[in-house]
Amino acid sequence: MSPPVPVPRFGHGSRVPGWDEAVDLTKPPATIPDPATTPVPQELRDVIEAAMAKYPDRRSAAIPALHAAQEVHGWCSPEAIDQVATVMQVTPAYLTSVATFYDMLETRPRPKHHDVYVCTNISCSLRGADHFFDAMVGAAAEHPDVHVSSFECLGACDIAPMASVDGEYVGPLTTDDAARIVDDLRAGRPVLEHKQLRYRRCADPGVAEGAEEFAPPEPDVPRADTAGLGPGGDTLDRPGPTAPIEIPVDEAGAGNQAGAGNETHEDDE
Ligand code: FES
Repeated sequence: MSPPVPVPRFGHGSRVPGWDEAVDLTKPPATIPDPATTPVPQELRDVIEAAMAKYPDRRSAAIPALHAAQEVHGWCSPEAIDQVATVMQVTPAYLTSVATFYDMLETRPRPKHHDVYVCTNISCSLRGADHFFDAMVGAAAEHPDVHVSSFECLGACDIAPMASVDGEYVGPLTTDDAARIVDDLRAGRPVLEHKQLRYRRCADPGVAEGAEEFAPPEPDVPRADTAGLGPGGDTLDRPGPTAPIEIPVDEAGAGNQAGAGNETHEDDE
């Protein structure tokens, strides 16, 4: 693995190029690319349109749309941004402002590689994320195509310590998992399948109740994806409740009635 990539900063100290330069008011205003002269691969168009259909305001789909374009082009190139802008009917400048803000969107060319983002924020850190990060850096040391970075909270604190591996959330992790992640990536296998967030009951009500380990479902069952897009770029979500309610309603109701405003403990009595 190459050493963790430092966050690039410009002379003015910001990660955003040119923010301190005065606006050139003589320039023509930004325009939305003309669909007639900007060809967009049909598959990419379908993914972007499906993402836009999820939100009342189409601009809310900017991140999944850029992510999809990055999958196709390898990075958010000017061509990729123009294609997204064409489908979304927004200006390339709007999309560039989004792409330059988010670390997971690349605005420079990069060779194809695997991304392992290890969360080292508070919940994960309290549960050993720093040890796991060190183990992950060590495990990937010989593999330049595996990029390991530490990251702020990835929003899956309940599986701390966790990581996002090419967009797949896995956890809770131990240092022993680091080598397995590299092996799985290099073999082209699903990464740490038994620890993928998508197979937890809160994400997938179909997972067997009381199972000792997280059990992957049958291969032909559509899977929910943590990034909102399926592995093939589809937008299929696993059918089932969207709220992560794991306690059956009657049990929760009984518990609430018994304990409402009157918490008692056997030791107290
Ligand atoms: S602190 Fe790691 S996912 Fe939230």
